[in-house]
Amino acid sequence: MHNDLYAVVGHPISHSKSPRIHSLFASQTGEALEYTAIQAPLEDFAGSVRGFFARGGMGLNVTVPFKEQAWQLADCRTERAEKAGASNTLYLDAHGKLTADNTDGHGLVQDLTCNHGVTLANTRILVLGAGGAVRGVIGPLLAQRPAALTIANRTIARAEALVQLFAPDAGTTELSACGFEQVDKPFDLIINGTSASLQGDLPPLSANVIGTDTVVYDMMYSLQTTTFNQWALDQGARHVFDGLGMLVEQAAESFRVWRGVRPDTAPVIEELRND
Ligand code: ATR
Repeated sequence: MHNDLYAVVGHPISHSKSPRIHSLFASQTGEALEYTAIQAPLEDFAGSVRGFFARGGMGLNVTVPFKEQAWQLADCRTERAEKAGASNTLYLDAHGKLTADNTDGHGLVQDLTCNHGVTLANTRILVLGAGGAVRGVIGPLLAQRPAALTIANRTIARAEALVQLFAPDAGTTELSACGFEQVDKPFDLIINGTSASLQGDLPPLSANVIGTDTVVYDMMYSLQTTTFNQWALDQGARHVFDGLGMLVEQAAESFRVWRGVRPDTAPVIEELRND
C-alpha cells in the first residue's frame, strides 16, 4: 500500500523546513503519508501543480514565490484565502476541484495567543509592511478584535490599499495606514512583516513605539535573534518572538485541513529550535 502523497512547492526549496515538520506530524499522529519538496520552474508553476495532482498527490504547501499564483490557479478558494490574495495550501475537494486555502494568518494568531500567551483583543497593534505576507495575516488579526490596528509601510499607498480592502472586516477596530515616521507612540504589539531584514535593514521606526510592555513579533526566524528583534530589545521591549512558531502552526493547520487531525505543535517547535 502506498502512503498518501503531500509536498511543498517553491523556488528555491532546498532550505524548506516543511518536509521535516510534516514528517514529525505524521509520526506523532500515526497518519500514513509521505511529504516531499518540489522545486517548480519559475515559468511553469501551474505545470508542477497539475503534474503533482495527476500523479495522485493529495495536498500541496506553496511557498515563495508562488503563493499568489497558487491563489490564481485554484478553481475555488476558502474565505480566508480569498481575502489573503495568496495561498499556501492547495488540495482537491470532494468534486476534484483545486481548492486554495491560506493558513498563514491562523498560524500567526495561534502562535501569539496559544504558544506565547499574548492577548490580542482590545490591544493596540502595529503591523510593519504591506506586502503579500502582511495581507495574509490582517484578516485573522482583525478577527481577534484589537482596539486598533495600524499598518505602517515604506510605500504608504500599499498600506492604504490594505486598509481599504479590510475595512469591511474591521468592526470596532480602528484600522489605519501610515508611513514609518508617522508612528511615535508605544504599541502593545508590533509585528514585523517587512522583508527588510533579508537585506539586514531595519524599518526607520522611532524608538518611541517600544514601551516597557511592548511585545514584538518578527515573522522571520533565524538561529540568532533577528535584526528587528535585536533592535526592539535594545529599545527595552518586554518580549520578542520570531516566526518559527508561526511556521509550525501554519503547517499544523494545513495538516488539519488535509487529514482532519490537529498535531501537537509544541514538541515540533522544540525540536526545530534545537536543530
Ligand atoms: P512579502 O511576500 O515578503 O510580503 P513583498 O510583497 O515584496 O514580499 O513585500 C515586502 C514588504 O517589505 C513590503 O511592505 C516592502 O515595502 P514596500 O511596499 O515599500 O516595498 C517591505 N520592505 C522591503 N524592503 C524593505 C526595507 N529595506 N525597508 C523597509 N521596508 C521594506
